[in-house]
Amino acid sequence: MNDTKSTIKSYWDRRSSTFDLSPGHTLSSKKEEDAWKALFLDKIGPGDKRVLDVGVGTGFLSIMLAEIGYSVVGVDLSEEMIKNARKKMDARGLKVRLEVGDAEALPFEDASFDGVVNRAVLWTLPNPKKALAEWKRVLKPGGTLCFFLHGPHSHGLSHRLTKQFTNLIILARERRNPWKSLYDSVDLPMGGGVESSVVIDLLKKAGYAGVRSDPLKEIGQMKSKNMPWYYRISSQKSMQYCYSCRKS
Ligand SMILES: C[S@@+](CC[C@H](N)C(=O)[O-])C[C@H]1O[C@@H](n2cnc3c(N)ncnc32)[C@H](O)[C@@H]1O
Repeated sequence: MNDTKSTIKSYWDRRSSTFDLSPGHTLSSKKEEDAWKALFLDKIGPGDKRVLDVGVGTGFLSIMLAEIGYSVVGVDLSEEMIKNARKKMDARGLKVRLEVGDAEALPFEDASFDGVVNRAVLWTLPNPKKALAEWKRVLKPGGTLCFFLHGPHSHGLSHRLTKQFTNLIILARERRNPWKSLYDSVDLPMGGGVESSVVIDLLKKAGYAGVRSDPLKEIGQMKSKNMPWYYRISSQKSMQYCYSCRKS
């Protein structure tokens, strides 16, 4: 593993134990859960599908995918994230195969999944183009790629002030230092969020068909409504998008 990947891995290893304390990372309501499941059924389809969750984290997407009835495999660079995800799967009695692996060099055969999904992962990769090619490699022809990613972060003065204020409250309530970030030491092409036109262009150039991006409005609103106020004031600044396309 190169230095950049080691830094990223250590960051997520450290972050794993507090990851689910951030309200945006977990489900806010049954209504939100139903909306996610309906979205996956629409994009991937019903039935016995084999689905890969890249950068599975503590299992947010994988739990819902397994509950839909898909055969789910989760992969993550961080062993500690995998351990946390494993505990959550066991507690729910869900059979999800979880393993350590790199989103840009997946330990799976060509054309072995009906669907590849992920949330908030492309931004933390040093080589997003390589990842998109790799995700296409493991998809079966006709298989679906569906992932979620934030638009560009705002850099305006009011946003920076709000962010500092939110960080102070996170420090007090979640017992973690939100200023201690991996952005400081690693250069990530999409680290500050990314315009959807840029992602669409990358997906088309990677050879995907039926490329589309949809703002994740309804789910975003449900999340935001149920968040503590100190998250709500800064989460409204950047929209999350759902990207979907097929391997033709
Ligand atoms: C923001 S978290 C998202 C976790 C999960 N997808 C979710 O939505 O809750 C990013 C995840 O990507 C993982 N990750 C970072 N770089 C990776 C890589 N090169 N390969 C696989 N996973 C990676 C991190 O360990 C972390 O679990």
